[in-house]
Amino acid sequence: MGTDIKAPPVTGAGARTITLTVNGRERGLRVEPRVSLLDALREHLGLTGSKKGCDQGACGACTVWVDGRRVLACLTLAVTCQGREVTTIEGLGDGDDLHPMQAAFVAHDALQCGYCTPGQIMSAVALLREGHAADDAEIAEWMSGNLCRCAAYPNIRAAIREVRDAAGGA
Ligand code: FES
Ligand code: FES
Repeated sequence: MGTDIKAPPVTGAGARTITLTVNGRERGLRVEPRVSLLDALREHLGLTGSKKGCDQGACGACTVWVDGRRVLACLTLAVTCQGREVTTIEGLGDGDDLHPMQAAFVAHDALQCGYCTPGQIMSAVALLREGHAADDAEIAEWMSGNLCRCAAYPNIRAAIREVRDAAGGA
């Protein structure tokens, strides 16, 4: 015991105030230029749904949308999102109602530990919007930026197929 865990410094050299619209709500925050969007979301705004599996663009656990397009929040500097719209897994559902993709992930057991899941779901919804879900091979290709160590891939594809078909195809 006695471990003294300190929160990282909130601001430091060159800190500036930026405004982001996060999940439809305008949020002001003061960040150093080096702070990633991922850390801004997690550590400054308390939105811990977006995960950090690698912090170098390799795993996809940090996938969010900026202006409606999926991006890796660990490779995006928060200051570059000034004035832009950011959507995270916390903003996907409607109150207590799950987004259809969230419900499909639950129904198809498309998660185990759940750590990759927020990124998988943000990617999966974007995938359908992009029209990249014609068949399993295309889904696998366009979801290949999201790693899952629990190997839920077949179930993730099943969830995506269900939402795709319910919406009338890719
Ligand atoms: S944490 Fe961003 S890609 Fe792994
Ligand atoms: S559910 Fe565990 S890493 Fe994907």
